[in-house]
Amino acid sequence: MEELKKRIREDGTVINSDILKVDQFLNHQIDPSLLRNIGEQFAQAFANSDVSKILTIESSGIAPALMTGLALNVPVVFARKKKPLTLNEGSLTTKIQSYTKHLNNSVYLENNMLSAEDHVLIIDDFLANGEASLGLTRLIEMAGASVAGVGIVIEKTFQPGRTRLDHAGYSVYSLARISSLANNQITFLDD
Ligand code: G4P
Ligand code: NA
Ligand code: NA
Repeated sequence: MEELKKRIREDGTVINSDILKVDQFLNHQIDPSLLRNIGEQFAQAFANSDVSKILTIESSGIAPALMTGLALNVPVVFARKKKPLTLNEGSLTTKIQSYTKHLNNSVYLENNMLSAEDHVLIIDDFLANGEASLGLTRLIEMAGASVAGVGIVIEKTFQPGRTRLDHAGYSVYSLARISSLANNQITFLDD
């Protein structure tokens, strides 16, 4: 997606050879017009995938997930990182390891959010090691539902997430694919 790549080049900051900061338009301040176009791009990519629901994780996945849900006209659910006081018995939970933050966190989903009939599109802001997306596939499968695919705003192709999702048989579509952040430079796979 050219508009996104341009924005990453202009406003992205390389923190180190692994981490890109995009706080000007995605992770802190959010650009609604860019996010609308992101949602439409995902909707186009998954138009024939029979998506009935979208699943993401709070917080940074919510904006692109919401815009995709709007464009596909399906509901959007986000997994929670904190166990809600009001969580029902029989709710779904799985552990997600965060390499970036060196933490092992549980995520939670109320058990009535997904049904066995649902065909669920996963949307997230970044794909790094794939832990978040793989955790969401586990929640979907625990609910008896099926995975329609995975839509990623920014994929880092030099980290193992994409390969892991491919090997697990999921269809992954990324809007921007970064092959390197070395030497303070953002290089896209198709540059
Ligand atoms: P993984 O899901 O692919 O395994 O990713 P990882 O554990 O490495 O990432 C943990 C968190 O860091 C996630 O956000 C993820 O979106 C974010 N992240 C990964 N790589 C980058 C990057 O290069 N830049 C930025 N800005 N974020 C990155 P989170 O902890 O779930 O937080 P939230 O922002 O969604 O609340
Ligand atoms: Na995220
Ligand atoms: Na994030």
